[in-house]
Amino acid sequence: MSAREGWDEGWDVVSGVGITALGVAATRAMETARDDALIDDPYAAKFVERAGERLPVPLPTSLGAAMALGNGAGEDADWRRFFVAMAGYMGVRTRFFDDWFDDATASGVRQVVILAAGLDTRAFRLSWPDGTTVFEIDQPRVLEFKDEALADEGAVARCARHTVPIDLREDWSDALLREGLAPDRPTAWLAEGLLPYLPAEAAGELFETVERLSAAGSRLAAEHMDPRARDVLREPRFAAMQRRHGVDMTAMWPEGERPDPAAWFRDHAWCVETSRGGDVARRYGRVLGDTAEGTFDTATLLTATNA
Ligand SMILES: C[S@@+](CC[C@H](N)C(=O)[O-])C[C@H]1O[C@@H](n2cnc3c(N)ncnc32)[C@H](O)[C@@H]1O
Repeated sequence: MSAREGWDEGWDVVSGVGITALGVAATRAMETARDDALIDDPYAAKFVERAGERLPVPLPTSLGAAMALGNGAGEDADWRRFFVAMAGYMGVRTRFFDDWFDDATASGVRQVVILAAGLDTRAFRLSWPDGTTVFEIDQPRVLEFKDEALADEGAVARCARHTVPIDLREDWSDALLREGLAPDRPTAWLAEGLLPYLPAEAAGELFETVERLSAAGSRLAAEHMDPRARDVLREPRFAAMQRRHGVDMTAMWPEGERPDPAAWFRDHAWCVETSRGGDVARRYGRVLGDTAEGTFDTATLLTATNA
């Protein structure tokens, strides 16, 4: 049986790569609970609670509890320490892209596409200028879970919000246009926590679609992991976590080279800036710590404009 069997049918937040959306929500809940929090995401913990026992990974929702779990020896404790380090990075990453959206709307952009939105709640928690439309693309069952949870919380979007339930390995541009994206107006595109999970060909096609639908003045922000960051999955702490919880991260993150967004967009005449995760963290007054070295420290946070 292939490790990716069943993936063509899509996934929810407790199966396939959808689990990573819940994992990120758990880290945002942890960040929100910190005294020195860089973000405030009141819905993140709600998603984790709602997934409840169906959750296949141990995801403590408060930093204090996580730190306590992180004490000790052995593969489990090592994994939890890694998760805590990852949460520190996710706080930084989320805040970086929050600030980038502020800049994009300050420059007049009123159209936003969040690619692989997962449990991103920016439409509900950021203040958007009047006339802003946010499109969220992800798998149908991921968006369904999110919409039901947000409705139960009485959450109200602070912009016009459209969900586009589709697989990003397919041709997704028509679905986005049908939902109302205006390609003659500038768009701010975000690919946060997506590119490692896309097969190389789909990633290349995604860049081409973004370029084709981007009017002058459009912007793109993305996270790109060095392919060597995947080596962490071979470490004993990951192997133990995967065995115990039946989560196959190696299947989620296809091996091999994939197009580097910085190079691709530069080649297509976009103005690209890149920063390393560790440097961005320091700008926000945070040190990522040894556990995260080589994984999050070296992640690239990229911003680009086609002005
Ligand atoms: C690590 S999560 C990141 C979610 C969100 N961007 C965030 O930062 O909170 C990865 C997301 O990518 C989505 N994803 C991965 N491959 C996809 C595909 N082929 N089509 C649609 N969504 C996909 C998953 O469903 C999941 O929500």
